[in-house]
Amino acid sequence: MKHSEQPVVVFDSGLGGISVLKKLVKEMPNESFIYYGDSANAPYGPKDPCEVRRLTVESIARLDVFQPKAIVIACNTATAAAQGALEEAHPCIPVIGIEPAVQRALQAHPGGRILSLATAGTLASPRYQKQLQAVQGLGEVVSVAAPGIVGYVEGGKQDRGGIIAYLRELLAPWQSTMFHGVVLGCTHFPFAAAEIQEALGYPVCFYEQSDTVARETQSRFAQLGITRCEEDRGSVTMMNSANNKEILGFVWRLFAAV
Ligand code: DGL
Repeated sequence: MKHSEQPVVVFDSGLGGISVLKKLVKEMPNESFIYYGDSANAPYGPKDPCEVRRLTVESIARLDVFQPKAIVIACNTATAAAQGALEEAHPCIPVIGIEPAVQRALQAHPGGRILSLATAGTLASPRYQKQLQAVQGLGEVVSVAAPGIVGYVEGGKQDRGGIIAYLRELLAPWQSTMFHGVVLGCTHFPFAAAEIQEALGYPVCFYEQSDTVARETQSRFAQLGITRCEEDRGSVTMMNSANNKEILGFVWRLFAAV
């Protein structure tokens, strides 16, 4: 197989990374993607970083048989815990990660108040703390872990009223202040943007990084000369560690819906 023909592995703890996959397919329709969600072990957010690193490295090692030409970590939590380990395990191919769009939100709202929603693992990571230091003085960032949204998406978005009530309670300490922007710092969260909006009760701008990841992937491929240039469209293969029909059906529904 020609190098450019090899697939791109897109990884998440579960279903959230489909929000990133959708952007990748839109920007790079000729590439072949293998999406792997580790729903059997989700959520990653509350887990110890060493455990997240182990699960991420082991999941991606299972995909080595497909000889991927690149790995996209479509998971903020796994990026924070495992990007370095993945780069060491796969020294010959690009490993592209994702992190919350805090800087972008503050650039759009200088001096503003930003709500940064992510997992506990992402918020506690040295990578995120470094990001906060870098934007110090540019505005106020309120960081809140929202693990309930991960469960809501993984469970097939069954109880809309329940998740809105959960979010209202979670955000109750800030009900008398307004946020100028909301960072969706977990790839599951774009699937609950409407629910977050409803819980806040006023219009707000959302910031996430999947378009940045897609652009970065595209430019790394161009630099390395590994862009698939054939005219026919590429393909999307969905895989999930919780290998049941229901999950795979929901995976495709989410992919169609983003
Ligand atoms: N989707 C993941 C992220 O972007 C993590 C969700 C989880 O498994 O807790 O952080």
